[in-house]
Amino acid sequence: MDLLADIEQVRAEFDRRLEAVKVRTADQNADVETVEQLSIAFLGRKGRLAALFAQLGAIPTEERPEAGRQLNQVKEYIQTAIKAAEGEVRPEKPEEESLLDLTLPGDPIPLGTIHPVTRIEKQIKDIFLRLGFSVLYGPEVETEFYNFEALNFKQDHPARDMQDTFYISEDLLLRTHTSNNQIHAMQHMQPPLRIIMPGRVYRNEAISARAYCTFHQIEGLAVDRNISMAELKGTLQYLARELYGPDTRTRFRPSYFPFTEPSAEMDIYWGLETETDYRVTKGTGWLEILGCGMVHPNVLRAVDVDPLEWTGYAFGMGLERIAMLMWGIGDIRYFYEGDLRFLRQF
Ligand code: PHE
Repeated sequence: MDLLADIEQVRAEFDRRLEAVKVRTADQNADVETVEQLSIAFLGRKGRLAALFAQLGAIPTEERPEAGRQLNQVKEYIQTAIKAAEGEVRPEKPEEESLLDLTLPGDPIPLGTIHPVTRIEKQIKDIFLRLGFSVLYGPEVETEFYNFEALNFKQDHPARDMQDTFYISEDLLLRTHTSNNQIHAMQHMQPPLRIIMPGRVYRNEAISARAYCTFHQIEGLAVDRNISMAELKGTLQYLARELYGPDTRTRFRPSYFPFTEPSAEMDIYWGLETETDYRVTKGTGWLEILGCGMVHPNVLRAVDVDPLEWTGYAFGMGLERIAMLMWGIGDIRYFYEGDLRFLRQF
């Protein structure tokens, strides 16, 4: 038994049969084997090569390395020849399609960015969630009752002018603040409660670098036993430091809102170096970012909460203001112009 001779013979037979396969296209009716059949006959599990490999174990040990090498060579030779024949016999793509190179990388799809107001909203939500607050949402189209009356703005109260209102009908309006949600929340939940309520608000104001006809607020409300102004200040100072860093300067100024008593506004120090600083801060260096105060007893009474048992604090902040401070944006109108050069910076 001469394995090396057998290997040569198998190679020669393969060459012969491969030639036959290649010319078969000349005679469509001829019963000739296909490349696939050839591949099975030589490379298959029960093929000619497998039979040769099986003989390896039976030959003298000294001859085995050389025979093995030759066998592998033949195997590689046949594999390559069959691959080439496959390409010739059935070309993979018709002519027209060969112009299409599916391996080319695609055009990059430009990614959007998160709008700065959305980013701030998420950041503030995260800060208050850490403090144990929950998040609620309420309607933008509202009745006088929720936007004004229950918040202690009596009919013809001059404070209604503080927030120039877009009216939809006699009684329907676009909410001027997220404080409407204080009422919705207390109608549906019993104290103790600690919640924040983000949303869009609308005001019929002259548009300027500091004011726009729509903007975003986050309302906060805590109602519990023995709630104090100190807790309110501590909470809001914590918020300011979480947002802007530990060295952030804040100040509280007395203010007035019908639905809180006492009331205050919190300012954050913005700086007074450039002309923009002057314009944005009206020459003070400070920027007001929120209004706050202790919930007025009349508000608690409007939702049947006993002001002798429960006290609360509330605050409402403008998200655009906070974003302006965060990224040094000098004009609130940038948020609404959809200018990609602005938006891509976030
Ligand atoms: N709603 C007030 C505003 O829009 C802000 C505010 C909320 C003030 C809650 C006090 C308490 O300006």
